[in-house]
Amino acid sequence: MSSHTHVQAPSDPGRLPMTLPLLAEKKRLGEPIVMVTAYDYPSARSAEAAGVDLVLVGDSAATTVLGYSSTTPVELGDMLVLARAARRGLQTPLLIGDMPFGSYEVSDEQAITNAMRMVKEAGCEAVKLEGGGVGSVSRARAIVAAGIPVMGHVGLTPQTATALGGWKAQGRTATAAAQIAAEALALQEAGCFALVFEAIPSAVTEELMPTIEIPVIGIGAGPATDGQVLVFHDLLGIRDGLGARFVKRYANLQEEMNAGVAAYTEDVRTRRYPGPEHTYSIDPSELAELHARLN
Ligand code: KIV
Repeated sequence: MSSHTHVQAPSDPGRLPMTLPLLAEKKRLGEPIVMVTAYDYPSARSAEAAGVDLVLVGDSAATTVLGYSSTTPVELGDMLVLARAARRGLQTPLLIGDMPFGSYEVSDEQAITNAMRMVKEAGCEAVKLEGGGVGSVSRARAIVAAGIPVMGHVGLTPQTATALGGWKAQGRTATAAAQIAAEALALQEAGCFALVFEAIPSAVTEELMPTIEIPVIGIGAGPATDGQVLVFHDLLGIRDGLGARFVKRYANLQEEMNAGVAAYTEDVRTRRYPGPEHTYSIDPSELAELHARLN
C-alpha cells in the first residue's frame, strides 16, 4: 500500500526535508532541534506550518487521542492508522513512528516485522522504541541492520512506568543516573540515530551530554539536550489538568473547544442556528410547482 499519495507541499517551499545527516549537522552546529508529537492530519499540518524538525506519532496517542489511562493498550494497528493520517499532513519534518508496547519485545524478528509495517504501511521514515536494557538494545540493533533508522528512549519510559515505580523522574541517584548513561551509550552503539531523554534531572543530563555523539531530544530533561519534544495535546492544552511539571502550555484549546461546542448547542436549542446565511435557496417558481405537486 502506498502511503505517500497525499503528502502535502511544505508551508515554506524553500525548506528542505529533514534527513539524518541534516539532523546530525544541527547537533554539530548547536542549533536546537524541535520535535513534537502528531496523531492526525490537522496536528501534522500544524507541525508542518511551524517548521518543526521531527514529528513523532507517539504512543502517547493512547491517552491523548484514544482515552486510555496509560500507553500500554494501544495496538500497532491503531498506530498505523494515526501515522498514515499524520503522513498525509507532512512534507518536511522527519516522521518517526513509535513502536507500541507488545510490538517489539518478543524477538528481534517481531521488532523488524512491525517496524517495517510502520515504514511500508504508514510512510514513517524512522521508528522509536523505549528502554535501554539488553532486549531494547538488541531490537534497536536488529531494526537498524534491517535498514530502518531507530530513535532510542531512556529515563522515564511510560510503557514500563509500573516497573519503574510509577510516573516519576528517573536517574535521581548516582547509580540510577549511571544506569541511564550506560543505556544511552548502548543504544548509540547499537546504531540509533538519536535518543529521547525523558524526566531526568537537568544536572544529570548535563553530565551525560558530553559523552553522547548522537542528537538527544529532551522532555523533562532540562535545557542541555540538543532539542526538545512536547506532546501536542499538552502544549496546546487539549486535555483536562495541567500534566507533568515539564509541560509548558502555549494555548488552552480544550477550553476553547468546550466553549465552541457549548455555544453551538445553545444556538440549536434556541433556534439561533441555522440562520438565513447558512441555508440554500430555490427558484420561487420551482418551489411553487413543488408545492402544487405535494398538495
Ligand atoms: O509517546 C510519546 O509521545 C513519546 C514522547 C513523549 C517522546 O514517547
